[in-house]
Amino acid sequence: MPRIISPSFLSADFLHLGDAARTVNDSRAEWFHLDVMDGVFVPNISFGLPVVSALRKATDKVLDVHLMIVQPERYVADFKAAGADYLTVHVEASTHLHRTLQSIRDAGMRAGVALNPHTPVSAIEEVAALTDMVLIMSVNPGFGGQRFIASSLDKVSRAKDLLLRKNSPALIQVDGGVNADNAAQIFAAGADVLVAGNAVFGAEDPVAAIQQLIEA
Ligand code: DX5
Ligand code: ZN
Repeated sequence: MPRIISPSFLSADFLHLGDAARTVNDSRAEWFHLDVMDGVFVPNISFGLPVVSALRKATDKVLDVHLMIVQPERYVADFKAAGADYLTVHVEASTHLHRTLQSIRDAGMRAGVALNPHTPVSAIEEVAALTDMVLIMSVNPGFGGQRFIASSLDKVSRAKDLLLRKNSPALIQVDGGVNADNAAQIFAAGADVLVAGNAVFGAEDPVAAIQQLIEA
């Protein structure tokens, strides 16, 4: 089982994104998690394509782009051009999800599908074969620094069961409220990739915080 940490730049100092990128480059985190918000799908606006392009130039690590925007299908080609490796869209935001996931793969990226806390795992039943990663939201999306929703642990196990039943090699990512105290349990429930914003960039020593999450 891989144990991948994807630090969320939403919690980084936006005035010094280059420093944040260098910190993650020097750490054991293998991915960069970039949260794109449109103020419509979620009640917050974060950053968009120019920031993704800029960070692409700052790292060779995996760019893991989490779209919290309505009609994400409109921007698949743009995020490919910006350098995304994984492009994750929300089940709740894409009417023709099957086509959207296919188009992400056709564009040459890995396709992720995200589930809000209220959305059952069964929502991905018919798209498991088109999915490279399932993102279980363990907070309601929109903001960093929220508390982990405890029932997400069982949800991760149910997602794992579904993927096994479908013979899918898709990764499971957990996003929201992850920290050194709950990381071990989340990995044990079946997660492969943990996103951490506040637990990394809010720490005195982000590199050590990443190390702690991996070794949790
Ligand atoms: C929330 C975002 C998360 C967020 C996580 O909508 O999808 O990626 O940055 O932040 P923490 O780890 O602080 O909960
Ligand atoms: Zn995210």
